[in-house]
Amino acid sequence: MKNAATELWPGQSVPLLKALHILTHNGGLNADSRRKLKQVQHLAQLIKPAIDDALKEKEQPVLADLGAGKSYLGFILYDLYFTTAGRGRVIGVEARAELIATAQKIAAESGFDRIQFVEGRIADAEVGAVDIVTALHACDTATDEAILFALRHEAKFVALVPCCQAEVARELESVKGPLDQLWRHGIQRREFGAQLTNVLRGLFLEAHGYKVRVTEFTGFEHTQKNEMIFAERHQRSNLRARAEFEKLATEIGASPKLLAFSP
Ligand SMILES: C[S@@+](CC[C@H](N)C(=O)[O-])C[C@H]1O[C@@H](n2cnc3c(N)ncnc32)[C@H](O)[C@@H]1O
Repeated sequence: MKNAATELWPGQSVPLLKALHILTHNGGLNADSRRKLKQVQHLAQLIKPAIDDALKEKEQPVLADLGAGKSYLGFILYDLYFTTAGRGRVIGVEARAELIATAQKIAAESGFDRIQFVEGRIADAEVGAVDIVTALHACDTATDEAILFALRHEAKFVALVPCCQAEVARELESVKGPLDQLWRHGIQRREFGAQLTNVLRGLFLEAHGYKVRVTEFTGFEHTQKNEMIFAERHQRSNLRARAEFEKLATEIGASPKLLAFSP
């Protein structure tokens, strides 16, 4: 068990990290929670400029964390940035009721009154204006739901770290064509399917006027799901990117269903 003192950022709330079970009762950090803390801190660092921008633009900016799970990310962003600013809200959307109940309890005990949790599917969530969308390891097609959520809520910033992706690999099983050697074997089909999905996600966001950066999220020692798609909206649409999206999806013969109809 490592001493956590050197792993925490200045001002990070120790009681919060204990309530989230990232730190043990004694303030220690085991290997799993250290990994989680590192991932969330890394994302917090990458997303800080977007939060600063939103705080500059709006009196009460809103960040929505989708597929929130235990809401590590939402809580840590609130603790690091929104508490210090004294304004802005965080909304966690999560399908599992028991995780929502625990998060609400932690928020109440921490005195965090500008963080709230919505139970349900990302696809059905309507939460009013949102400036920043995050989705960390939202499973399979939940990342596509997060992209559509960002469009519905006109979010300026979107930060996605996709999780496992199976839908497109399943589609590819029955696709024949000049490139089908690329997905002949199961393991390669899964990898190619995930790669194609993320390429199409980036193009889809570009088609809707976002500037997109795709980078490594954090070292592989922390997570196997290591691609980060960061998007900032700067125009309403981009016809060139839309044409590229459609060309690639048509030429390969598969695409994420939720993104199939690029409006
Ligand atoms: C792998 S966990 C990641 C949790 C958290 N973002 C993290 O990184 O610690 C994915 C979470 O997304 C939730 N989820 C999956 N699909 C969802 C959907 N369509 N709508 C809402 N939540 C969803 C699951 O219940 C689960 O808690």
